[in-house]
Amino acid sequence: MIVIKGADGRIRAFHNVCRHRGQRLCAKIGGHAPKLVCPYHQWTYELDGRLIWARDMGEDFDAAKFGLKRVHCVDLGGVVYICLADVPPPIADLAKTAALYLAPSGLADAKVAFTSTIIEKGNWKLVIENNRECYHCSGSHPSLCRTFSDNPKIGAMDGPHSASPEILAHWERCEAAGLPSRFVHAPDFQWRLARVPLLNNAESYTMSTKAAVSRRMGRMPFNDAGSLLMYHYPNTWNHFLADHAITFRVLPVSPTETEVTTTWLVHRDAVEGVDYDLKTLTEVWLATNDEDRQVVEENQKGILSPAYEPGPYSTIQEEGVIQFVDWYCGVMSARLAPQPALAAE
Ligand code: FES
Ligand SMILES: [Fe+2]
Repeated sequence: MIVIKGADGRIRAFHNVCRHRGQRLCAKIGGHAPKLVCPYHQWTYELDGRLIWARDMGEDFDAAKFGLKRVHCVDLGGVVYICLADVPPPIADLAKTAALYLAPSGLADAKVAFTSTIIEKGNWKLVIENNRECYHCSGSHPSLCRTFSDNPKIGAMDGPHSASPEILAHWERCEAAGLPSRFVHAPDFQWRLARVPLLNNAESYTMSTKAAVSRRMGRMPFNDAGSLLMYHYPNTWNHFLADHAITFRVLPVSPTETEVTTTWLVHRDAVEGVDYDLKTLTEVWLATNDEDRQVVEENQKGILSPAYEPGPYSTIQEEGVIQFVDWYCGVMSARLAPQPALAAE
């Protein structure tokens, strides 16, 4: 797909396929272009997808019929979702909630400071399941555990109904200062948002626990507002802090390979080397991602053994995994169920 911002400022998504003989239009991961020009025969498309030039196609050729094929695309105030389905699932509830929760994070004034893409040799569901619990954190993530609590009641991992005194106090303090913070979620838990406190009033995911970027993002009233966590099944989790934001995208590549792309966002006026140091900004999550990669790869190797049979989950530590598995089974069962027309035959 091509995801591109037009001259009108709107973000649109298209299939990366020329309407002539199907050449891939863009081979690069990212960049800038005034028009989209097919490298094969130079059919030329406007950034809104219209075909505006095609040489020697004859008088009867109607360029209006050969615009780029659209992909559903929604910009939730800086977080862009695309969907390949003909009819995309409803996103209005998430859009409304995300607009409210993300507004103080200032994504409209953010820039990308760094992007990392890794391949984990494991099925994508193992990547998500691993993300949905911190049962493994103390054994795997020494850097992250300086600032992120592995207590499921503080990390809002165990759902909206068992909020601990620590997280309730954090929500009250943040909401009094105008930061929407309480746990909100889709009825089926496909998405959820909650602002969680970091350990010991830490400001950011750094080794020192202090902010990594001196130029704050958005209009966060204090440095220790913690992290706004935003999950959306099946493939993203995100953290929005007072000084930077981190987005994660999980893309299945094969049954045993998953691409994980992590993007660090900072205020667009923040200058590297002046307002932030890239190593300080990225080292905790680069290390954490690599530690999770090792966990997932060993998990994949283990479950491929014929001796593997699933063991029980901890209902204290792995409620998030149980929710993900229930959500996934629910969605897949509904799609595997006989369609009404077929059932009637
Ligand atoms: S395939 Fe794109 S112009 Fe021919
Ligand atoms: Fe982890």
